[in-house]
Amino acid sequence: MVLETQIIRVDEHNIDADLVLKAGEIIRTGGLVAFPTETVYGLGGDALSPEASGKIYAAKGRPSDNPLIVHICRMEDLDHIVKEAPAAAYKLAEAFWPGPLTMIFNKSSVVPYETTGGLDTVAVRFPSHPVARAFIEAAGGYVAAPSANISGRPSPTSVKYVVEDMMGRIDMIIDGGDVELGLESTIIDMTVPRPAVLRPGYVTRQMLEDLLGSVDEDKTMMSNDSTRAPKAPGMKYRHYAPKAELTIIDGAIETVIEYINKETARLKKEGHKTGVIAAEDTVAKYNADICKSIGNRNDERGIARELYRILREFDDEKATVIFSEAFDASGIGQAVMNRLLKAAGHRVIRL
Ligand code: TXA
Ligand code: MG
Repeated sequence: MVLETQIIRVDEHNIDADLVLKAGEIIRTGGLVAFPTETVYGLGGDALSPEASGKIYAAKGRPSDNPLIVHICRMEDLDHIVKEAPAAAYKLAEAFWPGPLTMIFNKSSVVPYETTGGLDTVAVRFPSHPVARAFIEAAGGYVAAPSANISGRPSPTSVKYVVEDMMGRIDMIIDGGDVELGLESTIIDMTVPRPAVLRPGYVTRQMLEDLLGSVDEDKTMMSNDSTRAPKAPGMKYRHYAPKAELTIIDGAIETVIEYINKETARLKKEGHKTGVIAAEDTVAKYNADICKSIGNRNDERGIARELYRILREFDDEKATVIFSEAFDASGIGQAVMNRLLKAAGHRVIRL
């Protein structure tokens, strides 16, 4: 079924209340609206409606065992959707909400299994983006939202890519400009005695440990261990991936440059359109068809913001093979390398 998708522009510095109410009304009546958050664009539906969740899976082409995050806009709304929230969760909420942190709780009975992919737990996030907050409030307070991309593609960081993936599939797109952070929220499981990070993000393990003492980490997060199932079901899928085959080349930088240049020269002769993702200080040293700078290699925030846009651009420019330098995996860099590894299907060559 092809829907007529309305696009509205809402300025975060001057929010048009009437437009936001209109968007909220769509959610209240069972429709779908894509909206900006500080991390990536979300694809929203009523979190308490099984039918709306079903529509989200259909619009994304997403397997329905992959649970959705419920977005709230007021701390006091948490109680309604969770069975209990441990004291540690309030500590984290005080420090990081509103913001790019998602916490997993045991769900209350009002949250349908369609929203949680059949799980007894629910993921909750309180985003900081002013447009997201106003929209969630207008929508009734509980908006289920995965990233607003077709399943398997890089999450959209600007409205252009939401339009590309979702036009005709949903009722409305709220254009709030480019997002601020560019990678999805950190996910932490609060249902276990020792909270565990299931997906790395802007809020780093160190930041969480500073507040809670020691925090666990899902062992499958940075590896390709197919004998274990990740606790966040979505992390098992090949994800964030450009259409071209992407390989990460790790090693001393001069050796990496030499290796990639040799490979791209060979692949060009075979008729490939080759691409390279490199830091700004080395990007000029490559001879691929398309060479993109991801910014300063010491600026993890900048790299996080650019990554998905760059992966999407390679699709636009029809690259068929891409090589990427490896980047530092500490702090926020862990989130960057987690997404890059997934985009590469864990193809890494260590020189
Ligand atoms: O920043 C974000 O979190 C963005 C914006 C839109 O808020 N949303 C987002 O949603 O990234 P999505 O659906 O693309 O990723 C949600 C992840 C998936 O890996 C899913 O498996 C996991 O969260 N998840 C959701 N509920 C869960 C639960 N109850 N237990 C474990 N993992 C869960
Ligand atoms: Mg996603």
